[in-house]
Amino acid sequence: MMKKLQLALQINKLNKIYSDGTVALKSISFEVNKGDFFGLLGPNGAGKTTAIEIITSITNKTSGSVTINNIDIDSNFPLAKKKLGFVPQELNFNIFETPLQIILKQAGYYGIMRKDVTSRAEYLLKKLRLWDKKDTPCRNLSGGMKRRLMIVRALIHEPELLLLDEPTAGIDVELRREMLSFIKEINNSGTTIILTTHYLEEAESLCNNVAIIDNGEIIKKSSVKDLIKTLDTETFILNLENNISTAPKILDYNFTMIDSNTLAVEINNKQNLNDLFSKLSKSKIKVLSLKNKANRLEEYFIKLTENKIR
Ligand SMILES: Nc1ncnc2c1ncn2[C@@H]1O[C@H](COP(=O)(O)OP(=O)(O)OP(=O)(O)O)[C@@H](O)[C@H]1O
Ligand SMILES: [Mg+2]
Repeated sequence: MMKKLQLALQINKLNKIYSDGTVALKSISFEVNKGDFFGLLGPNGAGKTTAIEIITSITNKTSGSVTINNIDIDSNFPLAKKKLGFVPQELNFNIFETPLQIILKQAGYYGIMRKDVTSRAEYLLKKLRLWDKKDTPCRNLSGGMKRRLMIVRALIHEPELLLLDEPTAGIDVELRREMLSFIKEINNSGTTIILTTHYLEEAESLCNNVAIIDNGEIIKKSSVKDLIKTLDTETFILNLENNISTAPKILDYNFTMIDSNTLAVEINNKQNLNDLFSKLSKSKIKVLSLKNKANRLEEYFIKLTENKIR
């Protein structure tokens, strides 16, 4: 019998049209396995926040379904919500309150007694280096501190699924690394994570699986491993001196014949052109010129999204 992976989240044919007529999501579907670190990638305005806000019921969907831990949010959102932690893209707490007040209040929303939450609050505040500031009104915190406070707040009720909407926006490199490694730690201890970002390198270092969203549509779903493999492959177009009738068969290289004197070849980051040329010349094939169809990280991303007709 096939082992069925348990789903933390299931999005099915989700549509969103805002009241002003903006079509933000066009029938998107994706699933996130329990325990996964999942990335929702896409450029500005792609629909990432809309999707996350529908999952957390901040925004109403136009149609489609959202299931959290096998609970349909339409049938029992209060129950589904218990499992959810959410770090919104925009800061949204009362700046006159202190971190400790904000966290205890949040715990209260989830029906957790103060005595049951103090040690966890202390642990999280220390972990995110906010302990010194626990009694400082939030308006006196730095931007990075406020962002970290949002993470503490999202984690206080020990959610099984943590949604992070660009949690590192506006945070310096050092702190960002620290924050992300903490999030990774949370994931390692069993919490499912969904992270939206437009930084590919962030997804690369953290996520197992990603969906790329553009203009309200999911244009790619893949494991990060496969995505990186595609990204680390460059396609070269070789112009040949002689005509050939079939694509050459040379170990380690994948050729595609374009016409009798043009070949496309994929080179990965472990291969090099000199090796390719010497192997081709052994097969009596001489290359006159080559063109690089660049395919690196950001370019690939841009290409993926540009290929879509807007
Ligand atoms: N409240 C709203 N009313 C009308 N349109 C909206 C509203 N919120 C978002 N939109 C539109 O929906 C589309 C998707 O926006 P969304 O905020 O989901 O994108 P995003 O992927 O999160 O972008 P970013 O990376 O900039 O945060 C955009 O065209 C945006 O202008
Ligand atoms: Mg957003």
